[in-house]
Amino acid sequence: MDGHELTNEDLVEQCQKILVSNDFVTHTVPSNKLYPHQWLWDSAFIAIGIAHYNPKRAAEELTNLFKGQWHNGMLPNIIFDSSPEYAADRTAWRSWVSRNSPDSVATSGITQPPVIAEALQRVGSKMSKPDRLKLYRKLVPKLIKYHEWIYAERDPHDTGLAILINPYETGMDNTPPWMDQLREHSRPMWIAFIENLKMDKFINVARRDTRRLSPSQRMTNIDALMLWDAVTRLRKKRYDINRILHRQLFAIEDIGFNSILLRNNSILEEIAQEARIKINENTIANFRKTEEAIEELWDETYAVYLSRDFVTGKKMRSPTVASLLPIHSRKIDNSRLEKLVRVLTNDHSFWLRYPIPSVPRNFRTFDQERYWQGPTWINTNWLIIDGLFSSGHEEIAMKLVEKTIKLAKESGIWEYYNPHTGKGLGSKDFSWSAALILDLIKRYQTS
Ligand code: GLC
Repeated sequence: MDGHELTNEDLVEQCQKILVSNDFVTHTVPSNKLYPHQWLWDSAFIAIGIAHYNPKRAAEELTNLFKGQWHNGMLPNIIFDSSPEYAADRTAWRSWVSRNSPDSVATSGITQPPVIAEALQRVGSKMSKPDRLKLYRKLVPKLIKYHEWIYAERDPHDTGLAILINPYETGMDNTPPWMDQLREHSRPMWIAFIENLKMDKFINVARRDTRRLSPSQRMTNIDALMLWDAVTRLRKKRYDINRILHRQLFAIEDIGFNSILLRNNSILEEIAQEARIKINENTIANFRKTEEAIEELWDETYAVYLSRDFVTGKKMRSPTVASLLPIHSRKIDNSRLEKLVRVLTNDHSFWLRYPIPSVPRNFRTFDQERYWQGPTWINTNWLIIDGLFSSGHEEIAMKLVEKTIKLAKESGIWEYYNPHTGKGLGSKDFSWSAALILDLIKRYQTS
């Protein structure tokens, strides 16, 4: 924060420069040094920003995501760069152990929140009608296959709520409810041993992030080990959902993922209709089921929605920014929406100087600089702003737009921010922050 106020035009230019410099031709990396591959929801957010100045390139960003699509329909959260220097990243996941993985690229074996329909519609809206329809005809059938995969593999009891099997699938890697759950149900003995003997500080060598960034801003080594162990267990089962769910102690109906799914189901219906592509009735029936089932995740005590443990049926009593994401879904009960807005604007919990913190500050797990355990992230602000505008809460939405842009003006474009001081944290010149700040300015601050 050097006291020099940028104009909106300066900031747009800065965002565009970042996106161009992170452009690796076929895709845009989230950050040049820290995240050298293509990520699923990152590319969706990135395409939304790029669409403002280069819709064709934005359409390619989305089209290339489908190169990673698995034969069963899954879109993986990471498509790996194929250069030799990243062989270790590819081998760590070994997507090729699954018969469903794509033949020509290495990917992860899990997914991430489905923001693709949203991105596709926004990119489409910047194209001519013939180009848009051409793009929709190419991608919508594949996108339908992805949403069908979510219901086929991730809604085993046909309840309407999708389950996630790994914290990375939330997009909020070390978010407290998931870390609590991992610790309780699947912390292996060897990790407990390292933790008890306080040997965790010696394992930094294996991490790309803490070699570059302050460890106090990243997940702890123990959390990183637990996450890594959770991936290894999926890989050993060849990412086969039947084998994974057989005696799996760990599956969660995640509130963030299901809220985003709801919104994207609706958009998928809209764009499929525009392109005259039929979604089969069973799939539509599944979409409707989610609209009702989401209300089961409401928690009266906290007055927010909470994720639920699929195995025990118990809600995970640890609210986070994901608890507010039903605002984005457009599908929840009105009185509950009002309650969520009240929690959002409460300055003891979420309405800090630079909202929205990833964990409310009055909660025991709040840690103002640690990754998804407290800092403010631009993508979750963007999702909630969008929901507020569409549900008649323009005033709060506008305040949040202003506060979010202020963050970027004062501190620059970072991966996340300290919600008290506004300090930029994590990776600098982070692509989705650039893309979504650009989008917010173009949409709401043009005057
Ligand atoms: C981290 C974030 C995740 C993001 C990825 C790439 O893992 O938690 O949401 O997709 O980095 O930016």
